[in-house]
Amino acid sequence: MLKFNKSLKTLAVVAAVSALALTGCGRADSSSSSSSSKAGFAQNSLIGVALPQKTSENWVLAEGLFNDGLKNAGFKPDVQFANGGVTDQQNQISSMITKGAKVIIVGAIDGAQLGTQLKQAKDAGATIIAYDRLLLNTPNVDYYVAYDNRKVGQLQGQALLDGMKKKKATGPYNIELFAGSPDDANAKVFFQGAMDVLQPKIDDGTVKIVSGQKSFEQAVTQGWKAENAQKRMDTLLASSYSNTELDGVLSPNDTLARAIITSVKAAGKPIPTVTGQDSEVESVKSIMAGEQYSTINKDTTALVNQAITMVKDLQAGNTPKINDDKQYNNGVKVVPAYLLTPQIVTKENAAQQYANDKTLEPLTK
Ligand code: BGC
Repeated sequence: MLKFNKSLKTLAVVAAVSALALTGCGRADSSSSSSSSKAGFAQNSLIGVALPQKTSENWVLAEGLFNDGLKNAGFKPDVQFANGGVTDQQNQISSMITKGAKVIIVGAIDGAQLGTQLKQAKDAGATIIAYDRLLLNTPNVDYYVAYDNRKVGQLQGQALLDGMKKKKATGPYNIELFAGSPDDANAKVFFQGAMDVLQPKIDDGTVKIVSGQKSFEQAVTQGWKAENAQKRMDTLLASSYSNTELDGVLSPNDTLARAIITSVKAAGKPIPTVTGQDSEVESVKSIMAGEQYSTINKDTTALVNQAITMVKDLQAGNTPKINDDKQYNNGVKVVPAYLLTPQIVTKENAAQQYANDKTLEPLTK
């Protein structure tokens, strides 16, 4: 390859060919990547990564992984958190466009509020990848890379039933439902996934939502904030459970699960079966201590690597590999997606699930 490169005349062609060689070498999943004779863009290009707020550990981990992974692949990363909210994120994306970003990876705070900036990005020639959360109501999103969110919800719904059954062989079981932040497109999908499993049990009377708060709108937790979930749980306990046993709580993630458990403990009640998501350190500890029942293993490294693989393909002028072209309709189009498979984690399988995780594995001993 080196010999061949040396015989080429223009720098641009050398750059393009060596980029192709680099991305082509040793890549296992090149099946659908159609090779092109021209690189998509220069290898040292700026790649923007617009992350939301630090509402769970996975986002914090993603920051470092994107910075290191993009640098190692030869790109210039520009990774930003929008701690100030939607306007902050809009401004950050605008600034990435001005700086000439070739790809902008977006983990949206509110997937429906970035239409103007995404159009500007496309007009400037950038490729848009929705990361973890779908971008809604816009044609200007090229790819989606995420864990299968509906499956996450289904695993949570099933874990809730399994956990309650372990404590009490037969129903009826009294439960309450919590959902994530309504501006995050994932929140509804998690909830729908859980209801795929829970609705038939509600219909046949095995499961009862004592408060009557069954809808997504009633169950939401603004901003994915622990304090909001804790307050709502306090209210539910006071209004519906003074003389009634609470068997289970559907919680969409670990941060909210721990807030719900805090509320139940403060009320002096036994801890019900509580689900979660994200494999956060404190929740893995809680699971091993027999408090929180389950979490979901969605390895952030694998997700970030998948997004970076897409960037490498685009840089080489290849079409990124996708494995789903049906599930994620954003209101305007079905967004081509690469979905990873989430795994349920309970005390029983935690050691096996985290066998390769240096932080979590020791906690399972
Ligand atoms: C992510 C979850 C996370 C939540 C709150 C969601 O979009 O998919 O993993 O718990 O955001 O940060």
